[in-house]
Amino acid sequence: MGLHNRRYRLAARPAGMPARSDFEFCEEAVRELRDGEVLVKVLYISLDPAMRGWMSDARSYIAPVAIGEVMRAGGAGRVVASRNDAIAAGDHVVGMFGVQEYAIAGASRMQRVDPSLAPLTTYLAALGMPGMTAYFGLLDVGRPVPGNTVVVSAAAGAVGSIVGQIAKIKGCRAIGIAGGVAKCAYVTGELGFDACIDYKGEDVRAALRDRCPDGIDVYFDNVGGAILEAALARLAMHARIVICGAISQYNSGTMKGPSNYMSLLVHRASMTGMVVFDYAPRFGEAARDLAAWLKSGMLKSREDVVAGLDNFPEALAMLFTGENTGKLVLKVANA
Ligand SMILES: NC(=O)c1ccc[n+]([C@@H]2O[C@H](COP(=O)([O-])OP(=O)(O)OC[C@H]3O[C@@H](n4cnc5c(N)ncnc54)[C@H](OP(=O)(O)O)[C@@H]3O)[C@@H](O)[C@H]2O)c1
Repeated sequence: MGLHNRRYRLAARPAGMPARSDFEFCEEAVRELRDGEVLVKVLYISLDPAMRGWMSDARSYIAPVAIGEVMRAGGAGRVVASRNDAIAAGDHVVGMFGVQEYAIAGASRMQRVDPSLAPLTTYLAALGMPGMTAYFGLLDVGRPVPGNTVVVSAAAGAVGSIVGQIAKIKGCRAIGIAGGVAKCAYVTGELGFDACIDYKGEDVRAALRDRCPDGIDVYFDNVGGAILEAALARLAMHARIVICGAISQYNSGTMKGPSNYMSLLVHRASMTGMVVFDYAPRFGEAARDLAAWLKSGMLKSREDVVAGLDNFPEALAMLFTGENTGKLVLKVANA
């Protein structure tokens, strides 16, 4: 085919923040397709906090990326050649395409999407994995009822922003926690949350006492650490804590849990972990609701697009310094 692929392979397991030196940038020829395979030109790569976990060899819900393997990542692209009847050249698809310009996979490893219904990047955001995580994490695990107070951390990010908006749609009070005045203004202004606590500028425990006078019914945790402890200290009776992630701990080497977990006993509360992939058989159900809410304007999806495959290592680090607002996506090529 004569095509050239530029890709990042994992070169080392990071200590602390992932860095450029943890990756090897390679240029390799694209091989010929075999029967059943599809060649995808990757247009956007999804940058996710989970990628930090996949770089580590600690036991997790999925095998780590091997040293020398192309870095794992979700993405969206256009099919340029196909030897599979289910997918044709010209189709747009999403899948786990890796950090590279071209991906080869079987048709069962990708899903067709329609860019005339929503921008391709939205299929990596509200209509993609973050949207599914927010939907099932909040509704299935958090089980909010109208009038509940729902608190969510990383509220200006991909998952958190959708969680709070769904909470509002379901008749709850939505309180965000985010870093900085500008992000908090976005969360209450553009996204319509009832309040947002700036954890970088406010005492989170005092702010939760103030914004949640009747306690927290659902806490959707994206960050762990001190913010999880502050939420545990403010639970309402029978509260539900959704453990979605703990980004404040991912680069720390040793993960620290909350010391005040006995608040669960006192409040007859629960804390439940969730992994979005468990809900794959029900993604269609979530996609229908999320697409309808997007169409009606009840839900907003914001994608923070950084351009250039070359910038991948530095763009990934933005998730951990909080430089992204909304879903962080790397643009690899023009549609
Ligand atoms: N369980 C699942 O199946 C599943 C699926 C998807 C995502 N997740 C998890 O969901 C969480 C959010 O992921 P996302 O894709 O939506 O990312 P995101 O929220 O768009 O981006 C990460 C955000 O985390 C915040 N952050 C970074 N370091 C922090 C710290 N030390 N303390 C507090 N906040 C910090 C930053 O916002 P600020 O500027 O506000 O600090 C940053 O923008 C992550 O923990 C991720 O692992 C889990």
